[in-house]
Amino acid sequence: MNVLVTGSSRGLGRSIIVEYAKNGYDVVINYNNSKEEALELKKYVESNYKIKALVIKCDISKESEIDSMIEEIYKEFGHLDVLINNASIALDQDFTLKTKEDFMKTIEVNLVGTYLLSKKIGLKMLERKTGNIINISSNNGLDTPYPESIDYDASKAGVISLTHNLANYFAPYIRVNTICPGWINTDMNKDLEKDFIDKETSKILLNRFAEPEEIANLAYFLGTDKASYINDSIIRIDGGVKR
Ligand SMILES: NC(=O)c1ccc[n+]([C@@H]2O[C@H](COP(=O)([O-])OP(=O)(O)OC[C@H]3O[C@@H](n4cnc5c(N)ncnc54)[C@H](OP(=O)(O)O)[C@@H]3O)[C@@H](O)[C@H]2O)c1
Repeated sequence: MNVLVTGSSRGLGRSIIVEYAKNGYDVVINYNNSKEEALELKKYVESNYKIKALVIKCDISKESEIDSMIEEIYKEFGHLDVLINNASIALDQDFTLKTKEDFMKTIEVNLVGTYLLSKKIGLKMLERKTGNIINISSNNGLDTPYPESIDYDASKAGVISLTHNLANYFAPYIRVNTICPGWINTDMNKDLEKDFIDKETSKILLNRFAEPEEIANLAYFLGTDKASYINDSIIRIDGGVKR
């Protein structure tokens, strides 16, 4: 069994790779800028678990790079069992200062990248009549808007919409589900002010941000047969938000 996790050089993607590798899956580690981290992760999982790890550079906002990555994966592994669309950017910016370029960049990575990967790999999975697609959206895509991340929130709501169309098109062979995490302790939040973190933490029933491993556990579960009847689902995992 094998899995491709986009944006797995760091953060949540890295934790998802470790979880699948721990369970015997061969893994494809995808990076855009963080080559050293990706190579370190390959070394880590191959030396700790008896699996094979491919490392592939691909900017998922570039269709030609997606095509090359898919070609390399299918040449090396012959097929893919699980695709996890995790790579994403957040260009948080004062609402009045955000430009069309910022907005389009976010949409191209988070939404169009997810669409192209799901379409291209989903069609290959369909040839084998088996496969599994898991998208990482956000609770921002559901109901926790921040004007500073209006582009990010729209991209994540778009991923939820993609999920329904993909699940319908690929039924009954490929399960397609989406995870909507709340705050996670990763680099994505490394520049947040302490006051803001405290304010956000106070809204969470569990009173803390998630560790990436806590989200990775769900991303692993959904990829296995234990989740065989979970399809076209949008699953919130945010510690509970006070209402
Ligand atoms: N952190 C949170 O609080 C939070 C909350 C809700 C949802 N999420 C979602 O969880 C997922 C993981 O987030 P994270 O917190 O782990 O983010 P992160 O720490 O910022 O890591 C982002 C990852 O995405 C990769 N990436 C970015 N642009 C890419 C591109 N164009 N092509 C390929 N890879 C690209 C990065 O690779 P390089 O470094 O190699 O460029 C990196 O591995 C994302 O979908 C995010 O929206 C996060």
